[in-house]
Amino acid sequence: MRTMLGLGQLAADDRDLVRAARDAAAHAYAPYSGYAVGAALRACDGSVHRGCNVENAAYGVVLCAEVGALAAANVAGVGDAVLTIAVTGRLLAAGAVQSGAVVTPCGRCRQLILEASHRARVDIRVLCCNHDLGSIEVTSIEHLLPNGFGPASLGRT
Ligand code: THU
Repeated sequence: MRTMLGLGQLAADDRDLVRAARDAAAHAYAPYSGYAVGAALRACDGSVHRGCNVENAAYGVVLCAEVGALAAANVAGVGDAVLTIAVTGRLLAAGAVQSGAVVTPCGRCRQLILEASHRARVDIRVLCCNHDLGSIEVTSIEHLLPNGFGPASLGRT
């Protein structure tokens, strides 16, 4: 499943979610890559949990925006009830903004979302957005990470 939509074509709760992701990106700490990412997820109780990327001088320990949002959902007690996650981002450098490019979760984040989808027993919807929310790819974790390594691989149901 993969559909490209504009903001106006989204249902109201998805519209709120992509806006929450965009607002979260404003808090990114990304002095090294210059790429600010925001993520927002909705759990089945309707609660929204946000994250932004947090970089480090030791480049490899960067925290992706999705990691922050998933961690926040866990702290709130809904880590096993994630339904939808929205991700957006942009290059901060003036003149280098690619407003047309949607952000898709990196491989590690796909693996983390896949685990959440096993816990929730739903194929988590993933809304991949560009910064101005003019382009939104509506997809799902099963589409982004098919045949992934999951609990079943370890004999767990
Ligand atoms: N980044 C995310 O926050 N999420 C992703 O799924 C892709 C990459 C961040 C990490 C780093 O701070 C910056 O984007 C450039 O890779």
